[in-house]
Amino acid sequence: MYLGIDLGTSGVKALIIDGAQKIVASATADLKVSRPAPGWSEQDPADWISATGAAVGKLRQKHPAEIAEVKGIGLSGQMHGATLLDPADRVLRPCILWNDTRAHEEAALLDADPQFRAISGNIVFPGFTAPKLMWVRNNEPDIFAKVASVLLPKDYLRLWLTGEKVSEMSDASGTSWLDVGQRRWSPDLLAASQMDMRQMPRLVEGMQASGGLRADLAAEWDIKPGTVVAGGAGDNAATAIGMGTVGEGAAFVSLGTSGVVFAANDSYRPNAESAVHTFCHAAPGSWHQMGVILSATDSLNWFAVLVGQSAAALTDELGDELRAPQGLFLPFLSGERTPHNDAAIRGALTGISHGTDRAAITASILQGVAFAFRDSIEALSAAGTDIRRLTASGGGSRSQYWLRTIATALDIPVDVPVAGDVGAAFGAARLGMLAGGTASLAACMPPDIDRSIEPDKALRPAYEEAYQQYRKTYPAIRSTM
Ligand code: XUL
Repeated sequence: MYLGIDLGTSGVKALIIDGAQKIVASATADLKVSRPAPGWSEQDPADWISATGAAVGKLRQKHPAEIAEVKGIGLSGQMHGATLLDPADRVLRPCILWNDTRAHEEAALLDADPQFRAISGNIVFPGFTAPKLMWVRNNEPDIFAKVASVLLPKDYLRLWLTGEKVSEMSDASGTSWLDVGQRRWSPDLLAASQMDMRQMPRLVEGMQASGGLRADLAAEWDIKPGTVVAGGAGDNAATAIGMGTVGEGAAFVSLGTSGVVFAANDSYRPNAESAVHTFCHAAPGSWHQMGVILSATDSLNWFAVLVGQSAAALTDELGDELRAPQGLFLPFLSGERTPHNDAAIRGALTGISHGTDRAAITASILQGVAFAFRDSIEALSAAGTDIRRLTASGGGSRSQYWLRTIATALDIPVDVPVAGDVGAAFGAARLGMLAGGTASLAACMPPDIDRSIEPDKALRPAYEEAYQQYRKTYPAIRSTM
């Protein structure tokens, strides 16, 4: 048995697979995001630990025998968050999360220093880790002075699980401190942000061992002490491992809190100008590119709360037949990364009329997210990666209507895996299995495909026209802000 733990933004998922990679069970525990000021997004790392304890506890209650047989643990998690620790490893302040945009001025300053794009291969986005540290330095100097270590969210969980301060290449790629081509911390980038190597965790590859389970936790969970904990991966690379997105050309679209179009690459091909992210993959010697939008299911959830419905009820209301575009939604609820790198932009709903009902707005929201993915596809193409088909993943992909909208907006087929959970927690469990030493990367097979959703030919021209309007709307709303 192998245990995968995914520390998401809205909850922790723990999942066990057997030696044949069959999912035995999974359990979740919710997390909340606190937004103490506009553009801020924080979590208390203590909540990650209690949610992980709760999720593993639920698994143990129903499957004590299987938990007792766990031979490897893998971690996956929301990326970029800055968990700041003092010399005694005490948390200094709430973690500033990936979708927090307060550090946009600091990000622009670092990004203006050419060595950041040259060495890290990426724009310094406000959500990345280095500008957050600069914000703390400028606004909370007492805390900055005490920072002995900076850990990414899942790496803080690892410290609790193993007592080791370790990160791995995929998540470290999103800090702006990694030399992504060479797969090592860059002393120059650290120095350029008044940090140094001593504050950084040791680095391993995602499928290597990073440490062993601490004896007291092992006793509590009834797992063998010292059970290997794999390096693991940032949530997107972990999803890729779960979906078998490992060779050149393989790609998926993820509809989670954030939205991601992810393509695996056999070589390092940075193209920061396109606002595409180029990160290390969880497998040694491989990289990936991705376009990231900040509010995917978050956009639909925002509207669901507003109208007092569940997101599923809203998408069910649309039925199966794709509607022609009517009005536009720009999903920039907390700024945007690909392709705009614009933390200050906010969303818009245009073209509404007396006839616009709730369902029409839901359809516009799903379509706006699909057009944002189309922007990412164009950006990936500018970065040398042409995507011919995508496999769907993430909670939002349960909506057939949304997938149909995406296939039509992107004009490429979207493959839907057979029912089952092949997301980040599954990928993390696979990494636990690989670090446990019993399998090779070849074991990371793609899931069986249940069906392929083709673009709606009749509606393609209308969707293309709406996308062209969508593109023109960003500069228009930008100029009013
Ligand atoms: C990736 C990113 C998001 C988070 C969400 O760069 O910021 O996908 O990892 O969990």
